[in-house]
Amino acid sequence: MFLVKILPVVSLFLSSYSYVSAASLGTNSANLAIGVAGVSNMDALTSSTGETRVYYQNSTTRGITALSVTNAFNVGHFETSIPLVPSGEVRQSVPSPIAVASIGDPWTEIHVFFVSPTNILSEYIWTASTNTWQGGPSCTACLTSDGYIVSTSSNMLYALATTTSTCTTWRVGFVSAGVSNTITEVVNTGSGWILAPLAA
Ligand SMILES: *[C@@H]1O[C@H](CO)[C@@H](O)[C@H](O)[C@H]1NC(C)=O
Repeated sequence: MFLVKILPVVSLFLSSYSYVSAASLGTNSANLAIGVAGVSNMDALTSSTGETRVYYQNSTTRGITALSVTNAFNVGHFETSIPLVPSGEVRQSVPSPIAVASIGDPWTEIHVFFVSPTNILSEYIWTASTNTWQGGPSCTACLTSDGYIVSTSSNMLYALATTTSTCTTWRVGFVSAGVSNTITEVVNTGSGWILAPLAA
């Protein structure tokens, strides 16, 4: 099913459903491509220094992997790849969409959103001050605990974060099982998540 290729290029290589044109790859032959067989979905962040994080559903483990790269792939290099979300927490039947948002530069928080096997809108949170991730079914700080249900057939998701001097607003857009013909947002300005279908 998966086409495995080794290319003498510096770029991180995405096989499976991703299609990478040879012409778009770098030509630095000093490094081999790092194999990253993403199943379906990914999202990424970058900071002003170029530091980059990519979150994708790992085709082997079926969980979500967090990949760290020092910069844009033409000048950056692989740092680490860590298993972030175990496969048992990630929807498999329809692949889980993944969306990530952050605040701070350098980041003070990173929030990764995805869908659980029971279609619950789920969240993992990284906090710089403790350099730890929290997540999973028992994470009360996470959106997961609110139990919002994503449409079983929808693979759509976005995440946004904005900060002002007084508050941070987190927004997650998805297709709700309850209102499946429109985009719904859940919004959190610091006192919990509020559900809001798109209104005229
Ligand atoms: C999938 O995750 C495993 C365990 O963390 C890791 O060793 C492997 O490199 C990942 N695979 C891909 C294709 O990224």
